[in-house]
Amino acid sequence: MIILALDPGAYIEDLDEWLSKIIDETKDLVVGYKVGLPLLIAGGLEAYRTVREKAPNNLLIADLKFADVGDIMSISIDHLSKTGVDAVIAHSFIGYKDALDKLSMKCFERNIKLILVISMSHRGSEEYIDRHVNEFIELTDKIGAWGVVAPATRPEIIKNIRERIGDRIKIFSPGIGFQGAEPGTAICHGADYEIIGRAVTTSSNPRERLLEILEVQREVIERCKRS
Ligand code: XMP
Repeated sequence: MIILALDPGAYIEDLDEWLSKIIDETKDLVVGYKVGLPLLIAGGLEAYRTVREKAPNNLLIADLKFADVGDIMSISIDHLSKTGVDAVIAHSFIGYKDALDKLSMKCFERNIKLILVISMSHRGSEEYIDRHVNEFIELTDKIGAWGVVAPATRPEIIKNIRERIGDRIKIFSPGIGFQGAEPGTAICHGADYEIIGRAVTTSSNPRERLLEILEVQREVIERCKRS
């Protein structure tokens, strides 16, 4: 249950070649791909279309972490909808009125699933964002978001979200590998999918690395079910 984050480093000269290699080697092993600002900045919306074409059957998430006023985010969704993305990520802290109310309506109109960031995997999330986790969970319910992002690095937050919201939403969890969390930990605490990026994409053999990670994920989930 892995979503692979495609964040190309600036050292990559041929973006198409990089995308082809990684997607060809991984698309039968992952649920989907998460494409964020690094790929958008490096390759434009065309790069998003390329991912869609190369992986037509995988979930495609645009991780733009929207945090703007509703009308402007809605214009962005209009553009994004031309690429074939399935879902988009936005921040919760922007609030409902004239922000997430409009964004959620536009996503509904364009048939794009909305995922909200509830907490983040880096330590700075504890400074401000994490003080409002429970309010963000309520907001997620209010706008009928399809999913949330919560950190594998603080699995107790994942557990809290699952307990409060039941099975109504998908939980996506980054922070595996480069940010320190062990594969399987987030799923063990209630996440549906674990997001992994550089641990795979910077490997000289992405497929082999992904297979190793999937094996650890499987073992950790098995152990967790038994305990
Ligand atoms: P790495 O290379 O660290 O990539 O495995 C992780 C991917 O996930 C994104 N990321 C987050 N996205 N909330 C989010 O919405 C988070 O807390 C968070 N932490 C990491 C990151 O942008 C990268 O694509």
